[in-house]
Amino acid sequence: AQFWLRGQRPDHEVGYDEKTGMWDVHGYPEILHALSDPATFSSHTQRLVPEASGFSEGNLTQLDPPDHHKLRKLVSHAFTPKVVADLEPRIAELTTELMDGMGSRAELVSELAYPLPVIVIAELLGVPSSDRDQFKRWVDGMFNSTNKVALKDRSPEDEKYFADAMEQVGELASYLAGHIRERRERPRADLLTKLVEAEVDGVRLTDAEITNFGMVLLVAGHITTTMLLGNTLLCLDAHPDQFQAVRADRSLVPAAIEESLRFLSPFAAVSRVTTEETELGGVRIPADQMLLLWIAAANRDPRQFADPNVFDVTRDPNPQLGFGRGIHFCLGAPLARLEGKIALNLLLDRFPQLRTDPDDAPRFMPSPNMTGLSRLPLLL
Ligand code: HEM
Repeated sequence: AQFWLRGQRPDHEVGYDEKTGMWDVHGYPEILHALSDPATFSSHTQRLVPEASGFSEGNLTQLDPPDHHKLRKLVSHAFTPKVVADLEPRIAELTTELMDGMGSRAELVSELAYPLPVIVIAELLGVPSSDRDQFKRWVDGMFNSTNKVALKDRSPEDEKYFADAMEQVGELASYLAGHIRERRERPRADLLTKLVEAEVDGVRLTDAEITNFGMVLLVAGHITTTMLLGNTLLCLDAHPDQFQAVRADRSLVPAAIEESLRFLSPFAAVSRVTTEETELGGVRIPADQMLLLWIAAANRDPRQFADPNVFDVTRDPNPQLGFGRGIHFCLGAPLARLEGKIALNLLLDRFPQLRTDPDDAPRFMPSPNMTGLSRLPLLL
């Protein structure tokens, strides 16, 4: 992993990759620089991939100022810290229900880490949990489409995969749009209603914006949280002394989650596109170039973190970039941290001897820019 993260271009923090046609940025200060200058390093990467541009209205992750500021203000009005904090008892209840299904052996991802965040987002939005399985299929489809959309030359097989995925995206969009129309007529106590009612300086969200925002929540907040849960357990299990410390002193749980976000960042890279010729880390980059900012690599930059390849739950301060930085800083960070804290605490309460299964190896998801497990067998 270290080779993959930083070793390929040890003398370059910024470099062009002929194979992908993109620029890779690995260094902490270089990435901070790009994230703090959205005028030069735009988030509207879909303009280089026209097939995907239908999904940009209301998609916070694709907007630049001033549109980003307007939309972020509106959705933050609905998706407040209180809305997240109020979810605590329900997240604990859902985690307990999912743990009830576990025997003396369990597979963490399918039994807890995958279902929990998708149920939480579905309930937060206010869609019936009876539609959970359908939701999972759509969300998988969206995840697959974002994987393939980044490929430069797609094979006919990739094209089919991409088309299927886009179909799933379309179905999810109409499902959400239906619910939004319903909320306009019959408001409920849920996030969709809050989004419908949100108003800042006389401006309200359109149905299309709310639909796409709902999709963004599912894309940005589901698999990433699945990965956070798996990665945190994997890191702790690989460092028994630290696992023991966390078991003995639960006040270390939040710091263990932060360190896991640094050590195995789920969202390994965020993309940006240059709006004009610029310089980054002493390298000239022309306009209209796609950049991958490898926050997972920056999180191991020795210029920022002492002993970056050491997992240390007592690391303080820990300015890890796992949730990004700047105007696009993860809107769901409080929710992800809350889910991580509740799930880890409840798992350790119920299964104090929990460890990974030495006879059944964990597996990583095959993804170019996400780092997380698709399978983590546990002995409870
Ligand atoms: C943005 C990571 C969980 C919603 C981001 C960004 C990162 C990130 C790196 C910045 C993207 C960029 O700069 O281009 C993560 C990780 C998570 C997580 C690692 C879990 C461990 C969540 C959750 C939600 C969420 C649970 C919501 C339910 C969002 C949204 C944005 C975002 C809406 C876009 C913010 C904007 O563009 O202004 N996330 N995220 N994320 N995240 Fe998360």
